Amino acid sequence: LMQGAIEKLVPLAPDSWIPGGRPDPLIAHKHGLIGTPVSRRDGALKVKGEAGFAAEFRFDDMAYAALAYATIPRGRITAIDSAAADAAPGVVLVMTHLNAPRMNTPGVFGSSPTAVGPADLPILQDDRIHWNGQPIACVLAETQEQADHAASLLGFTYDAEPSTTSLEGAKANGREPGLFMGQPLHNRIGDADAALATAPHVVDQVYRTPRHNHNPIEPHAATIAWIDGALVIHDASQMVTAQAQTIGEIFDLEPDKVRLTSPYVGGGFGCKGLWDHQIIGAAAAKLAGRPVRITLSREGVYRVVGGRSLTEQRVAIGATAEGRFDALVHTGLSIMTPHNNMPEPFILGTRAAYACPNISLQVDIARMNMLANTFMRAPGEAVGTFALECAVDELAVDLGIDPVELRILNEPDKDPTSGLAFSSRHIVEAWRNGADHFGWADRSVEPATRRDGEWQIGMGCATGTYPYYRMPGAQARITLTRDGDAVRALIEVAAAEMGMGTSTTTAIVGAERLGLSLDQVEVGYGDSSIPGAIMAGGSQQTAAIGAAVIAAHNALVAELLKLAGNDSPLAGLSADTVGSEDAGLAKIDDPTQRESYASILTRAQRDSVTVTAAAAQPLELMHWSMHSHSAIFCEVRVNAVTGETRVSRILGSFDCGRILNPKTAKSQFRGGIIMGLGMALMEETQFDERNGRIMNPSLAEYHIPVHLDVPEIDVIWTDIADPHTPMGAHGIGEIGITGVAAAVANAVYNATGKRVRDLPITLDKLL
Ligand code: MOS
Repeated sequence: LMQGAIEKLVPLAPDSWIPGGRPDPLIAHKHGLIGTPVSRRDGALKVKGEAGFAAEFRFDDMAYAALAYATIPRGRITAIDSAAADAAPGVVLVMTHLNAPRMNTPGVFGSSPTAVGPADLPILQDDRIHWNGQPIACVLAETQEQADHAASLLGFTYDAEPSTTSLEGAKANGREPGLFMGQPLHNRIGDADAALATAPHVVDQVYRTPRHNHNPIEPHAATIAWIDGALVIHDASQMVTAQAQTIGEIFDLEPDKVRLTSPYVGGGFGCKGLWDHQIIGAAAAKLAGRPVRITLSREGVYRVVGGRSLTEQRVAIGATAEGRFDALVHTGLSIMTPHNNMPEPFILGTRAAYACPNISLQVDIARMNMLANTFMRAPGEAVGTFALECAVDELAVDLGIDPVELRILNEPDKDPTSGLAFSSRHIVEAWRNGADHFGWADRSVEPATRRDGEWQIGMGCATGTYPYYRMPGAQARITLTRDGDAVRALIEVAAAEMGMGTSTTTAIVGAERLGLSLDQVEVGYGDSSIPGAIMAGGSQQTAAIGAAVIAAHNALVAELLKLAGNDSPLAGLSADTVGSEDAGLAKIDDPTQRESYASILTRAQRDSVTVTAAAAQPLELMHWSMHSHSAIFCEVRVNAVTGETRVSRILGSFDCGRILNPKTAKSQFRGGIIMGLGMALMEETQFDERNGRIMNPSLAEYHIPVHLDVPEIDVIWTDIADPHTPMGAHGIGEIGITGVAAAVANAVYNATGKRVRDLPITLDKLL
């Protein structure tokens, strides 16, 4: 996600550049807020039903939208029969490519810094069909039920054209080298093939992962109005600002003519971005001259919103008799549509995983006529660690070495592909802590030797990994307000809260920095009218917000010193010698020299002061190899009669720098691990290779873990601050899912002696 942006950064002159910046006081536990467990600010509102989601905003005279979806994978619409729909009760209008307003084609994600279009396809602008499920008409009606009914009455005649909807067909069309966000998915160090040919111990296997669809609790929705030529969209979004920009480009609107808000999001995981439905909803609102609410049904989410693409991955590891890796090959295929640019980049985590002199990594792509795939929690690493970490386990068995010890033996002292030093890597500590807590020593080394009645019991482990990122473009606005002797602060960031605790952590970071208590700090977010752009993606939002809050706080200190003037105890001090403490400013090396915010503002006859500042460029990314790490341990019980697999215990031991809010962090880790359990045992999009139709577009047929599938999840972490990030923290949003599927598969092997190399591990594969 980040590499394109990083390459455009210009380093400062070497003598003025401290790699990663000067460690900020936030890295410490100074005021005691960083590292304190704090409940989510939005938690009570959500539990009480008082949080307003995208589909709960209201406009007067609002019409409701329903979509109709193409039923062929490729071709043209030759006729539309809308007579019955037009005549159905409550129908306001039927919009197709024949009457939709003219719109520009969205820039596909990654094609420019602000483009977040789902694909570079025109939307309802012509008769062409590009995937089975493509929205081809929108009905507006007075109620949702009337709109749904009328949409079901629409008839379409197609002229089908040749299409590729099978994996074999896609392969036969040819492969091309994969790119992810414009960057090559290819690394070659030494000669891995030659080293593999002479290695005394070799594992060489193919691992397969299926398509996955997104299933946040809240299906996609938007409530949309045109007000005096400006477009207002209340959306469920994890990329608020960039989405507003892309929508503005589609409708030829000046940036200040699009306002997008997203105060609450019912889960995102990479899918709460811009898809056809918001664009169609805005177009229909324009055509009807009425506000529109568009909510996708669960099936609609499967038709319109892309997920994870399938992969076929070869992992080959050659090792010495002592277990040192001499060759590491991770290559294979991911499938993409012709109209987007996002393969599953499964080699990303392998690049920095193990010390090895000969490494060959490559993702090829082949094209298939299907819905555009997109980001899904840890794109690349989630499926890449499944293949790599299963292969490491297979090698450990071959060598007769404990898999934990094998990983520690091959721990690199610098990034083996980039050559950069690690900013902070304490994965060995995570492995040792995890093995201790989990009771790894009790594992039966010989597979299929532990049994409890019908249940075969086994233990497995795997490494998880996800990079540290920090996107450029983050800004924060701080408003300090005085009311008598009391002060409060409003911190505004153009960020998104999907329920992971962003607003809470922002309050912690802001209060810590400003020397205020948590209840003195309010956080504003989820609104494109706030300056800057911070995306909830790539597990980088919290670091981006923190860097922006640090910059804004520095600006605030300078501004307050100006206001303080010559009568202040702080008179004459320069801003870089002054910090915040106890609701005021204090000289850093002599805090007795201080003045409260209230006193400064009172003397200056001000009720408030507002500053906006941009985060420092994320130069740390150019200088270090930066990652979050985990060691996952799990115990499974596999029923010898039915093949049913139950995960009975699981532990995540994380190394993700400083943990800012242990309560929300624990939930993030657990949520990621639960998603990993689904990936290991259940999740699979059934794709009809005859016609490219997704066959299981519902939670009845696409299985994800429910509470009874989830055991107690134990989570521990190192909490060792990274001195090269703004707050010592690394991202924690995506790391949780990584490594989980491999840990489960390795435990299933330990329980049964059977290797399942294609996900999900369903019971038919174990009988
Ligand atoms: Mo994440 S897949 O960057 O929301």
